Amino acid sequence: MIKDLSPIDKAKYVAACRAADLVQDGMRVGLGTGSTAAWLVRRLGERVRGEGLTIKGVPTSTATAQLAREEGIEVISLDQAGWLDLTIDGADEFDGEFNLIKGGGAALLQEKIVATASDQMVVIADAGKEVETLGAFPLPVEVIPFGWQTTRTLIEEALDTMDVLGTSVTLRMNGEAPKVTDEGNHILDLHLKRIGNARQLALVMNQIPGVVENGLFIDICDKVIVGYGDGRVELR
Ligand code: 5RP
Repeated sequence: MIKDLSPIDKAKYVAACRAADLVQDGMRVGLGTGSTAAWLVRRLGERVRGEGLTIKGVPTSTATAQLAREEGIEVISLDQAGWLDLTIDGADEFDGEFNLIKGGGAALLQEKIVATASDQMVVIADAGKEVETLGAFPLPVEVIPFGWQTTRTLIEEALDTMDVLGTSVTLRMNGEAPKVTDEGNHILDLHLKRIGNARQLALVMNQIPGVVENGLFIDICDKVIVGYGDGRVELR
């Protein structure tokens, strides 16, 4: 099957397979969201069905929950799990300190809660996600629908004082309607081009009324598994 994949899918696939090898019998595992995490869930499903691997999975979105169930993985809630041994998830960008931008799939809120409640977070990514400085990928910020335009104005005002190159903020759409997250919120995408101080920006964003969470994952990721289009994998 791998020979039929495009280079980018092969890169995601090999990173996901390497991460799946880290999962051991009896583990409670956070299951990320997105196309790379979907490969992970499929690979874990193969191990559950083929090797009798016994795990409990805590999905980070309804999409991942559905896929995990289809793959035969036992799905439990975070509250049932209490704490997780390992979370494996994709990312939109990662830098040399393993700080991340996440939320391209609009699941950043559950993803951050689940990753933070884990002994270890491992990111799986194709090599194109690696950056020197975060910010080329628009930073997703989850906001409650009530007064979202006021929240956007407050975000724009805050960005004027931050070390970023761009300040435009757009509402993520799903066709003609605003995108609605699994938690019933909207996503604002911040087109910043370059984030000079990601830690400070993450703190400032979360102080704005109406902001639920931002897609900067600072000091949360422990390891990155990078996949390449030729099938190579690097564990960082
Ligand atoms: C979803 C995410 C994803 O992990 C991120 O968007 C990467 O997705 P993909 O693996 O499809 O490139 O943060 O909210």
